[in-house]
Amino acid sequence: MSIATRDPGDPEQSPDQDVAAHPHGSFFGRRKGHKLRSHQADLIEHLLPRLALDITGPSPPGLAELFDPPAGEVRLEIGFGGGEHLIAEALAFPATGFIGCEPYVNGMAKILTQIEARNIRNIRLFAGDAAELLAWAPAHSLARIDLIHPDPWPKRRHWKRRFVQDASIAAMARVLVPDGEFRFVSDIDDYCAWTLAHLLRSPDFLWTAERAADWRRPWSGYTVTRYGRKAEREGRRAAYLRFRKTSSRGARPCARLEG
Ligand SMILES: C[S@@+](CC[C@H](N)C(=O)[O-])C[C@H]1O[C@@H](n2cnc3c(N)ncnc32)[C@H](O)[C@@H]1O
Repeated sequence: MSIATRDPGDPEQSPDQDVAAHPHGSFFGRRKGHKLRSHQADLIEHLLPRLALDITGPSPPGLAELFDPPAGEVRLEIGFGGGEHLIAEALAFPATGFIGCEPYVNGMAKILTQIEARNIRNIRLFAGDAAELLAWAPAHSLARIDLIHPDPWPKRRHWKRRFVQDASIAAMARVLVPDGEFRFVSDIDDYCAWTLAHLLRSPDFLWTAERAADWRRPWSGYTVTRYGRKAEREGRRAAYLRFRKTSSRGARPCARLEG
């Protein structure tokens, strides 16, 4: 991956000793960047606890009741970064419940600022590793999972850190409803090929593309994120991969995400 400027939130640009790896999880990046402004710190302290999922207890029978009024369907965005896409989706689909997962505290502070300013009521948040959230979520509880410009981990010895692995694919299959979707966006060709190869060998998903335009162009209503804009500036084109869950599997215990 070519990197023009140093980004404190990008683990690819951090020396290895800066990277806090979970021994059994799938988050290997940074949790903190620059110091939060005082209002952001206040939102983390007071608003986040009101919106945060508590995954320390048993999972509820479904996720729709986490929202008031209960959501028609629930979607998850993994690693929402600054939250541009998640905020736009939540505003566009007010009857849908959205769960945003992001361990990077500065990203969390950004989305909380938007949620407060726009009085958004259909977002719940998890400030941790999506692997843990997926393991906790009840089977067949999500209509869609979006993974947009995930950390690419371009070096071969770091490929095991990529979020897309056989175990995470099985974990997503467990929590998606039948016909639910996993959507993946990346401007890193090698990660797109990796994701296609992993999803195509999964018994649980079908790639929905019928023509090149289906993966070369974003789907209708897609909001370009900060990393998407950075890729455009640097001349890289993103691919937009959509996979439909084909099986009705859901009763299996979820594997931890490793290697
Ligand atoms: C390259 S950034 C992209 C952010 C945003 N999606 C965008 O397109 O601008 C990847 C994000 O994924 C988050 N992330 C990495 N591993 C994660 C994990 N296991 N669970 C949840 N988020 C994760 C990082 O903290 C980071 O904010």
